[in-house]
Amino acid sequence: FVQPGPHGPVVDREVEVEPDGRSLMKAAVDAGIDGIAADCGGNLTCATCHVFIPPEWQAKVGPARGDEDTMLDYTAVERRPNSRLSCQIRLTPDLDGLWVELPERQY
Ligand code: FES
Repeated sequence: FVQPGPHGPVVDREVEVEPDGRSLMKAAVDAGIDGIAADCGGNLTCATCHVFIPPEWQAKVGPARGDEDTMLDYTAVERRPNSRLSCQIRLTPDLDGLWVELPERQY
C-alpha cells in the first residue's frame, strides 16, 4: 500500500496474505491499513475503500464495472481512470505482488 506523501508517494505497508479469494479491502482492514476505511464492510455502499491501481497491474486487476463503477462517482478524492474499490478486488494467486496507491483521504 503506497500513500501520497509531501515529496511524492511513499510505501506505507507491505502485507502478506494468502491468495484465498478474500478482498483487498479485507486484507487491508485485517492488517490495520489506516488509508482504507471500508465503512460498509464490502457491501458496495460506502466508497471508502478507494484505491488506485498502478499501470502494470491494470490489465490483471481489470476495470470497475456495474455498481462499483457507479459507486466510484462518490469517492472523497476524485476518481481516476485507474480507480477501483478494494472490496471488489479478490486476491487470487495471479495477483501475487500487487501493490496499490491509497488516495489522500476516504472522506
Ligand atoms: Fe464499502 Fe467497498 S467497503 S464500498
